[in-house]
Order: sequence, then C-alpha cells, then structure tokens
Amino acid sequence: MRSLRTPVLSAVATAALVAGALVGGTPPAVAAPSPDLSIANVTAHLQQLQSIATANGGNRATGRPGYKASLDWVRARLDAVGYTTQVQQLSTSSGTSYNLVADWPGGDPEHVVMTGAHLDSVAAGPGINDNGTGSAAVLEAALAWAASGNTPRNHLRFAWWGAEEQGLLGSNHYMRTLPAADKDRIELYMNFDMVGSPNPGYFVYDDNLAGNGARDAMTAYYTSKGIAWEYIDVQGRSDHASFRSQGIATTGMYSGGETTKTAAQASKWGGTAGRAFDPCYHRACDTTANVDTTALDRNLDMIGHMVWLHADKDYGATTPPPTTPPAGTNLLVNPGFESGASGWSGTSGAITSSASRPARTGTWKAWLGGNGRTTSENVSQQVSIPASATAASLAYWLRTDTAESGSTAYDTLKVQVISAGTTTTLRTFSNVGAGAGYAQFSHSLLAYRGKTVTVRFLMSEDASLQTSFVLDDTSVTTS
Ligand code: PHE
Ligand code: ZN
Ligand code: ZN
Repeated sequence: MRSLRTPVLSAVATAALVAGALVGGTPPAVAAPSPDLSIANVTAHLQQLQSIATANGGNRATGRPGYKASLDWVRARLDAVGYTTQVQQLSTSSGTSYNLVADWPGGDPEHVVMTGAHLDSVAAGPGINDNGTGSAAVLEAALAWAASGNTPRNHLRFAWWGAEEQGLLGSNHYMRTLPAADKDRIELYMNFDMVGSPNPGYFVYDDNLAGNGARDAMTAYYTSKGIAWEYIDVQGRSDHASFRSQGIATTGMYSGGETTKTAAQASKWGGTAGRAFDPCYHRACDTTANVDTTALDRNLDMIGHMVWLHADKDYGATTPPPTTPPAGTNLLVNPGFESGASGWSGTSGAITSSASRPARTGTWKAWLGGNGRTTSENVSQQVSIPASATAASLAYWLRTDTAESGSTAYDTLKVQVISAGTTTTLRTFSNVGAGAGYAQFSHSLLAYRGKTVTVRFLMSEDASLQTSFVLDDTSVTTS
C-alpha cells in the first residue's frame, strides 16, 4: 500500500488547505483560466474619457454633456462587438442621467452575473480614478469576453451607472424598475468604483452573503498573486448597495480615496504613509495623471478572473418560470382517445376502439357503462389551469344510449372536478334523455385558475338494463 504522504500530492493538498484557511472560506473547486486583460487598452479608454471631459468643460458629471458623451462612447464600443445595449434615462436634481446596460447574448437567463461601475464624475473634475478606472476596466473585461469566443454557462450583464455621485441614483433606478422575477435571476453583482488609486490599497468589500463565495474568490485571487488585501466595510458608499439592499449577493474592490494610508499599509503595499490613497479624490486633478498603472493592471486582471470564474459558476439546476401555454391550446393530453389510454387514468378497458359503439371522430373513445349490472367506471386526467387565464373551459362530446325507459335516472355519468381533495360535480347525465346521438357540452373551469385539478367522468350503473355513456373529443382550453 502506498504511503498517505506521497510527497507531491501532499504538498498540493497542504497548499490548498492553507489557502482555504487564509481566506476563511471555500476556495473555488476548479481554478478557472484567468484572462490577462490589456492594461494598454484600459489606459487608452482612460485617455478617451479624459478627452471627453476636456472637450466638455472639464468634467463628466450628471446633467453635463461630458456624461452623455462618455455613455455614448462606451455604448458604441459594446455595440460594435455584439452586446445588446440598453440606455435607461432618469431625472435627478442635477439634470437627466442615464444608465447603460449591456447583455452578452446567451447563457442561462435564470442565472445572471452582473458587473458594474459608475460612469459619472463629480462636477469638480474629469473623474479618471473616480470612476474612469472602474468604468474602463469593466469595459475592457466586457470587450475581452466578446473577443474570447467563450460561451458562458450563465448570462453575463455589464452596467455603467449614472448619478452615483448624487447618491447611487442610477443603480437605484435600475433596481426599482427591474421586475421582481428579473431581480431573482441575479446571482451576483460585482462593483468596481476606484480601482487605480495613485497611492493604492487593495480593499475587498466585506460582504459575505451566505452561500455566495464571490468575496472569497476575490481574496483568494489576490492571495494567489501575492497581493495583500484588507476587508473594507463600504456600507452604502457605492452602487453595490442598490443590489445588496435587495438581498442580492455583491462583491467589489476599492483602491482607496480620501483617507490616509497608514505606516502598516505602506509597508505591505508600498506608496506613501500619511498621504491619502487618492489625494485628488473629487478634485480637478483627478486626471489620467492620477492613476497607479500597476494597481490598475492588477485589479483589471482580478476583474477578468472574477468575470471568467462566475461566467461558468454552477448556480444549480435551472427552474424556468412556469410557462403559460398560448390561449386556445388544448391542455388535455390525448383528448380524442386516439392514443388509447395514454394520459388518462381510471377503469382499464373503458377507453376502446371497439366497433360496437362509434367514435365521434377517429376510432377510439371512452365507453363508460353498458354492462347492465351494478358497476362504476371512470376516466380522469389532471390539468393545470394557468393563473393568468381570463377564461377556462372544459368541453366534450357525449352520446348516451340506454335500455332503460321512463323518467327515472337509474344510471348516471357525473362530470367532476377534483381540486385539493374536494370533488365538485359540474353536471350529471343519465339514461333519461338518451338516444339523441353525440352532443357537445361545456363548463367553465375559471374558478380553478392557478390550480392543478383532476377532471373526472364517473359512471354508475344500477343492477339491470344497460346505459352506455360514450365520450369523445374532450378539451380544456383557456384564454
Ligand atoms: N462611491 C465613492 C465615490 O464615488 C467612492 C467609494 C467607493 C467610497 C467605494 C468607498 C468605497 O465617491
Ligand atoms: Zn466619487
Ligand atoms: Zn466613485
């Protein structure tokens, strides 16, 4: 027998255990291939945003032309590579703002992974670190995904928010106007607001919604690259809060703003102790000169890793929302009995192609009774009436022939609906009035909308003289 301490295996196992212990959570089971995203491209995107600010009064703020110009430019880049983009307009006290939402076609629509950044600056300056960096990095991740040729397991959506600086107005608007079913589909929202601060730190949002490993995947990534990180409690300071307050798992990173880097932080991250992470935070000097390219490059690859990893994360079985059949569809299976007993329950042999009784159409029918002795027979089928139905109808053709005479009901056929254990008889036919050939009957089932019920045809014959109830061409239809 081999030793348990096979050297290579145990070294790997130990490393995995240590990594798991360090991040205090379960590392991803399989390391997804991480892309090496282009910092040169991101730098070019930042120059573009700077030019837009310069051409529009020095900022890209809500209600100013530099904001809409930024949005138009990002949108055009996404449209060109195959995203489905959508612009949402909202009004604020600073003027009209817009969100840009870009969907990558495909992926499981029941599992949506979102990545976003606010695109607006404050009025004081061009907003290149805050938040050209997040905007440009998310844009580059989206463009690289399009270029990768990958097919995601999950549906990928990217967003650029307006009016974050006015109090998360764009992301709040998005969530307020998103239908509840679509909110439920969002598995994760990742937020990137300031990811290239000139005196950088590496702060991971301390949000660990139960069952979601996104935060731990982010810290594990930094650890694997030898980058020290700290948790930060970002509270409501950026757009993740619009999602978090709705119970959606979020994560994100922040390279620091107006607060001062401590000596301990400077010793692990470099940079200058006693100086703000971003001395130009919300100022005119937040230009392309206000970015640490090394930090931005690292964070860019982290974002790529997170997008690639979560694109293929297994969020469990898909439970598609109940689909409503088109109005007029016959909800009964094998309604004319031409496939024999298939789809129907009840008395065996009642559904027959016997030539002794004619079908109304085809060959098969349900022939209940005709025995001339005490018997009970039935056929039944379960059916779900859509909750959205505005009309619902059970219809069937019935032909009754009898050896009885007179006006006493000896033998009967009850048409019933069984719902939650309660049986309701919609109509009772009998030997009285038999002999008129096939006739169609119908009843409303609207009272059962939103319910799964059993439709049953129940025959009861007395001791002598047969009555045959022959049923064909049934239907349950809704509109
Ligand atoms: N949302 C802040 C701003 O745009 C920046 C910030 C991001 C602060 C994340 C804390 C955490 O001004
Ligand atoms: Zn800001
Ligand atoms: Zn910001």
